[in-house]
Amino acid sequence: MRLILLGPPGAGKGTQAEVIQQAFSIPKLSTGDMLRAEVASGSGLGKKLQEVMSSGQLVSDEIMIELIRSRLGQNDCAKGYILDGFPRTHAQAEALDVMLDALGAPLDVVIELKVDDAALVARIAGRYSCTNCGAGYHDAFKQPAKLGVCDQCGSTEFSRRADDSAETVSKRLLAYHAQTAPLLPYYHQHGLLKTLDGMAPIGVVTDEILKTLQAALVAA
Ligand code: AP5
Ligand code: MG
Repeated sequence: MRLILLGPPGAGKGTQAEVIQQAFSIPKLSTGDMLRAEVASGSGLGKKLQEVMSSGQLVSDEIMIELIRSRLGQNDCAKGYILDGFPRTHAQAEALDVMLDALGAPLDVVIELKVDDAALVARIAGRYSCTNCGAGYHDAFKQPAKLGVCDQCGSTEFSRRADDSAETVSKRLLAYHAQTAPLLPYYHQHGLLKTLDGMAPIGVVTDEILKTLQAALVAA
């Protein structure tokens, strides 16, 4: 199963990618997480990335395409993967098509999580994650079963993202509408796009995604 999760900041891409990863035993390739790992490493590249990300802009196509090219070539992607946060521009989408043609392994489906801008701001304001394993939570919509203890690894350390300030979120939304939303008609024309209601509760969105993926498997 090779799929893209497409949607604005806070749409639920990362949340749903975690569930799909478990259900299909395929890796999630979350470009934001990969970039944040590079920032955390303290490298020279990481410092440059941090500047771009905290301004709410997109990192250059050149860097992103090479990042994904090297990741898709790894063994754990042989049976499929979830792209979360890539592609985000026409240049990235076209480069991905070329890579997948060369591998003879086309995409199965592109899932759009459609959410109103007003809801996104509240979602991002309440978001936090486990510092140890990265599991995602929300102050109102997704607390760990035992408050203050990560469901997945038992850690009690949590953190919030540096680019989740109200000012940066509005810039990230602008970047989404200007540069990424135009990919929706692109994937529609390729017969790959499935649009789901991302405003529904997390579990309902998960059920819809799993149904969509099962249907894509049957059609393949
Ligand atoms: P990235 O990390 O990809 O951020 P993003 O796309 O802005 O998306 P988010 O991670 O903020 O949201 P999400 O959809 O994953 O939502 P989540 O599941 O966490 O990218 C960060 C930056 O890196 C970019 O701004 C850019 O600079 C750079 N970058 C990355 N990829 C790039 C690329 N390809 N090209 C160029 N630059 C790139 O959910 C949000 C919250 O809501 C959570 O707390 C969750 O619990 C809650 N929630 C989720 N679903 C629901 C629901 N249905 N109902 C209620 N609450 C929900
Ligand atoms: Mg995310």
